[in-house]
Amino acid sequence: MANVVVVGAQWGDEGKGKLVDWLSERADVVCRFQGGHNAGHTLVIDGEVFKLNALPSGVVRGGKLSVIGNGVVLDPWHLVAEIAAIRKQGVEISPETLMIAENTPLILPYHGELDRAREAQASVAKIGTTGRGIGPAYEDKVGRRVIRVADLADPATLELRVDRALVHHNALRAGLGLDAIDKAALIASLNEIAPEILQYAQPVWKVLNEQRRAGKRILFEGAQGALLDIDFGTYPFVTSSNVIAGQAATGTGIGPGAIDFVLGIVKAYTTRVGEGPFPTELFDDDGQRLGERGREFGTVTGRQRRCGWFDAVLVRQTCLTSGVNGIALTKLDVLDGFETLKICTGYELDGAVLDYLPTAADQQARVRPVYETLEGWNQSTEGARSWAELPAEAIKYVRRVEELIGCPVALLSTSPEREDTILVTDPFAD
Ligand code: IMP
Repeated sequence: MANVVVVGAQWGDEGKGKLVDWLSERADVVCRFQGGHNAGHTLVIDGEVFKLNALPSGVVRGGKLSVIGNGVVLDPWHLVAEIAAIRKQGVEISPETLMIAENTPLILPYHGELDRAREAQASVAKIGTTGRGIGPAYEDKVGRRVIRVADLADPATLELRVDRALVHHNALRAGLGLDAIDKAALIASLNEIAPEILQYAQPVWKVLNEQRRAGKRILFEGAQGALLDIDFGTYPFVTSSNVIAGQAATGTGIGPGAIDFVLGIVKAYTTRVGEGPFPTELFDDDGQRLGERGREFGTVTGRQRRCGWFDAVLVRQTCLTSGVNGIALTKLDVLDGFETLKICTGYELDGAVLDYLPTAADQQARVRPVYETLEGWNQSTEGARSWAELPAEAIKYVRRVEELIGCPVALLSTSPEREDTILVTDPFAD
């Protein structure tokens, strides 16, 4: 049986939510393996809109097991509120359908405060984070002072963990002019939320390996995009987790051999939220048009996304770092009506042409895109369900994308509705 990893192949917001929902119909288990509630996954099911941050997209489909893996950082209060909101929309969530890894690190209120305080410091270049405490929580995990789900079960352990965290955080907060943390209040609120979270706590690594052995199909749902990866992204303008497909193994406790297919989600143009280099960014009417037609506003922060032409150099690179077997190309319809379209095929830097994005930050900021121009199309591609419904120029565009990135299209998504999808290769096929 096939297990599939879905990753964003650009800077996030590629339309993963819909594709994960589409694939989850074929899966038995849907599993988050990195990130936290900085993600915003929008699903449209029979016209109803579901907005998810921390919960795996599988929760909205009945009969699936949804799993939050240890690679995630989890804000327990946000999760409880998200569960309540989704339940109000008629979705059933119980310990039978949702599991949280016992070794998942928790995002606590001081992580968010630290995130926002740092971003507010005018003296340091802003990252443009979501302000949700993601980075500080991952720092604490690596610094061996984070509080994990399992710690909530034992008051003595919890107090020890809190003491350890506060030594660090209170020193830091004093330097930033923030009040010291009220230990008693923090412990009281953790004790209050503990039963809500502990009812879902499981040794996820064990459950997933058992599911795998039983022949169940597991879908690993990535958040953000490969260019926000802590190692391979546009550092330091990245998120604080590994986003690329290899993280599906370490972020859940299943061996890398369990991954049979990596699906890269790729938008037919490029967007980015937050600061950092973006070689094909447009500041003209074309950019404005992409943003308006594509409704490019962040689902978490409401920020306007920066828009630009398709960058084949970046996607070729992310397809390699994630070992992508096939891509799902999304939002092709946003390109409808452009007279001509541009695709970036290389970068010019100091008189040379590069076929990859250099690592050094100053070079990333200085590369100039080399474009090739393709003919646009006038007909609408929105809602197309077969190749026959696409204009010849749109097919040419897709074929050129495949050629340049060195990876085939497995799925083509032509609207937010799940049925508006053209299937070329089923990632779950044996
Ligand atoms: P953080 O993940 O909140 O620390 O933010 C770090 C960077 O990642 C910022 O540029 C954010 O805009 C970006 N980011 C985080 N989550 C997402 C996402 O789900 N989609 C797109 N960008 C994201």
